[in-house]
Amino acid sequence: MNHRIAFHTTGGTEVLDWVEAPLLPPGPGEARVRNTAIGVNFIDVYHRSGLYPLPLPSGLGLEAAGVVEALGPGTSGLAVGQRVAHVDGPVGAYAEARNHPAARLVPLPDTVSDEAAAALIFKGLTTHMLVRRVWRPVPEAWVLVHAAAGGVGLILTRWLAMEGARVIGVVSTPEKAEAVKAEGAQAVIILPRGGSYPDLVPQVRDLTGGSGVRVAFDSVGRESLEASLDCLGPFGLLVSFGQASGTPPAVEISTLGRRGSLALQRPSVMHHVAAAEDLQAAALDVFEAHARGILPAHIHARLPLREAARAHQLLESRATQGSLVLIP
Ligand SMILES: NC(=O)c1ccc[n+]([C@@H]2O[C@H](COP(=O)([O-])OP(=O)(O)OC[C@H]3O[C@@H](n4cnc5c(N)ncnc54)[C@H](OP(=O)(O)O)[C@@H]3O)[C@@H](O)[C@H]2O)c1
Repeated sequence: MNHRIAFHTTGGTEVLDWVEAPLLPPGPGEARVRNTAIGVNFIDVYHRSGLYPLPLPSGLGLEAAGVVEALGPGTSGLAVGQRVAHVDGPVGAYAEARNHPAARLVPLPDTVSDEAAAALIFKGLTTHMLVRRVWRPVPEAWVLVHAAAGGVGLILTRWLAMEGARVIGVVSTPEKAEAVKAEGAQAVIILPRGGSYPDLVPQVRDLTGGSGVRVAFDSVGRESLEASLDCLGPFGLLVSFGQASGTPPAVEISTLGRRGSLALQRPSVMHHVAAAEDLQAAALDVFEAHARGILPAHIHARLPLREAARAHQLLESRATQGSLVLIP
C-alpha cells in the first residue's frame, strides 16, 4: 500500500499523520512518480500551521525527486524509468508515490543525485529568482542576508559572493557563522535567539562604512523587517521573501521615500517559474551550477518520510544548517 503524510487540522507537528494513500492510474496529462527523496521547506511549516491556509484534509510538501513509473494519456517528452523532480503543486510531495502534472516535472541530469535534487531544486530556484530576476549581483555592493545558514541562505550567500557582492550574513549561532563564512560571506553577525533585531543596524552601518546595504534579503519577516529597512542605504531594495518568525508588519509607502527612496519587493518563486519554459531554464541553470561544483547541496540530515514531524521540529527550532531531506 502507498503511504503519505497528511493532516486533517492545522497546528503543531502532532497534526501530521502517516496514512494510506491509494494510487489511481495517472489521469490525462499526469505522470506517476515514485519518490526517492523529498525536500523539506519552510513553506511546509506555513501550510501545516495554517499560516498559508489549504483546503483540509491535505497532503504536504512541494518538492521531490523520483522516478516516472507510469504515464497518463496526453503526456509527452517523458519516459517510464526517467528520473525527475518537481517544485510545485498540487501540495502533497510527502508521499511514497503520487500522480503529478507531467508538464511540471523537470528531468534530472546524471550529474545531480536524487538527494541533491531534493535538497536543491526549490531552494535553488528561489535563489535563481532572487539573483537573476529580483536583483543581479553587483561586484562590491554590500548586501544583507538573514537566516544565511538556512537552506536558501547558504545557496544565496554562495551565489551572491561568487558574483562579487559583499555579503553580511545574519545567523543565530557561531557554528552557523562558520558555515556562512565558508560560502564566501564578507562578514557574519551573530544574533542569538531572543536577540534584538534593531541591534543589527549599527553593526551593519559600521561594516559598510556608514553607507548601509544596497539590498536586504529578508526571509525572517515579523521580527526583522523594520531593522532590514533601517540597514538600507539610499535607493536600497528590501526583498521580503519569507516569514520564518511570522507575518511581516505592514510598511507605510511614504516611509520608503522618507528613508531614502527605497524599494520593496515581495517575490514568489511560484510566479517566477509558472511558465514551463522558465521552470526548465532556471532548473537547468541550478543543476549546471551544481554539476560544476559551485552550488553544493548542503544536506543537514536525511530522515525517514514517516518522521516528517521530526523534520519540522528541527526546522522550526532553528537547529538546521542547509536542507533536510525525507527518504520514503
Ligand atoms: N518567496 C519565495 O518564493 C520563497 C521560496 C522558498 C523559500 N522562501 C522562504 O525562504 C526562507 C528560508 O526557507 P528554508 O526552507 O531554507 O528555511 P531555513 O532558512 O532553512 O530555516 C529558517 C531559518 O530562519 C531563521 N529564523 C529566524 N527567526 C526564526 C524563527 N522565529 N523561527 C524559525 N526560524 C527562524 C533560522 O536561522 P537562524 O537560527 O540562523 O536565525 C532558521 O534556521 C523561509 O522564510 C521561506 O518561507 C521563500
